[in-house]
Amino acid sequence: MTSATIRPASDYPPGGDAFRHRHLTGIAQLTPWEISYILDAAEQWVELNRAGAAKHDDALRGLTIINAFFENSTRTLLSFEIAGKRLGADVVNMHAAQSSVKKGETLIDTAMTLNAMRADAIVIRHQSSGAVQLIADKVDCPVLNAGDGRHEHPTQALLDALTIRRRLGRVEGLTIAICGDVLHSRVARSNILALTLLGNEVRVVAPPTLIPPAMERMHVRVFTDMDAGLDGADVVMMLRLQNERMDGAYLPSPREYHALYGLTPQRLAKAKPDAIVMHPGPMNRGVEIDSNVADDPARSTITEQVEMGVAVRMACLDILTRRTRKVPGWN
Ligand code: CP
Repeated sequence: MTSATIRPASDYPPGGDAFRHRHLTGIAQLTPWEISYILDAAEQWVELNRAGAAKHDDALRGLTIINAFFENSTRTLLSFEIAGKRLGADVVNMHAAQSSVKKGETLIDTAMTLNAMRADAIVIRHQSSGAVQLIADKVDCPVLNAGDGRHEHPTQALLDALTIRRRLGRVEGLTIAICGDVLHSRVARSNILALTLLGNEVRVVAPPTLIPPAMERMHVRVFTDMDAGLDGADVVMMLRLQNERMDGAYLPSPREYHALYGLTPQRLAKAKPDAIVMHPGPMNRGVEIDSNVADDPARSTITEQVEMGVAVRMACLDILTRRTRKVPGWN
């Protein structure tokens, strides 16, 4: 069995505290130091996961993690499940479609039910912004946000930052273009928060109808022309067109959207020659991204992002349960 080293409690930022948060509800709650702390912890898990042992550590043995997903997911749900199991925890998945939510049970009643089962951590995905914080305020254990409405998807931003750091050797001083359906994207919001906090130039590239109001308050540069937005970028992060969240006519047609905003090899040529291409998945191939870009291993980091997702979620589960486990220095 292999295990990661815990950075000593003495190694905290000047005047700082251990990772002081009880929950991980968003990137907005984190400092740059805390983001780096999680990324460094995750880095160790990447290497141990690659070494191949199915289960690496008994750190979470005896703990129960509940994944409560009120919205569909492949990557986030499975990687939280794998992460918990690799750390020795018992992991239980609750899919809303097969739960008493379908009988009309409220979110708070569901949360109190999970709490009464004495979970040691609850991972939540919900279609409403703020639902995760609502549950975090009611339960006794750490809560991790697996995506809430248009609000935040913090572990996605952390795994994206780790992927960039590993591919480009750093995640600061870069020009990063986040392109597509920014309006409906919690991934965009968490990434903008994380990547600006870490000292990158973040650009948002989208049609005017898919740009949220007051973007400038998030310290980004806004482009409606894709070629101009990609010019000289180190990272091109494509977003899924979230048709399920669109309640009106935001776009003329997927075909026209692809013509103006789809990532093709010709358009990627506007970015730096060694620029990487990211996508959180699931992808609409032929709409926001062409297959010959998405499947190019020299440029695309899409499968690496999935791999980093397991390591980041192992790090988050480990760090957030240290107080429960009474790890020395974590009071
Ligand atoms: N990136 C992401 O959140 O994917 P899933 O919806 O499959 O979890």
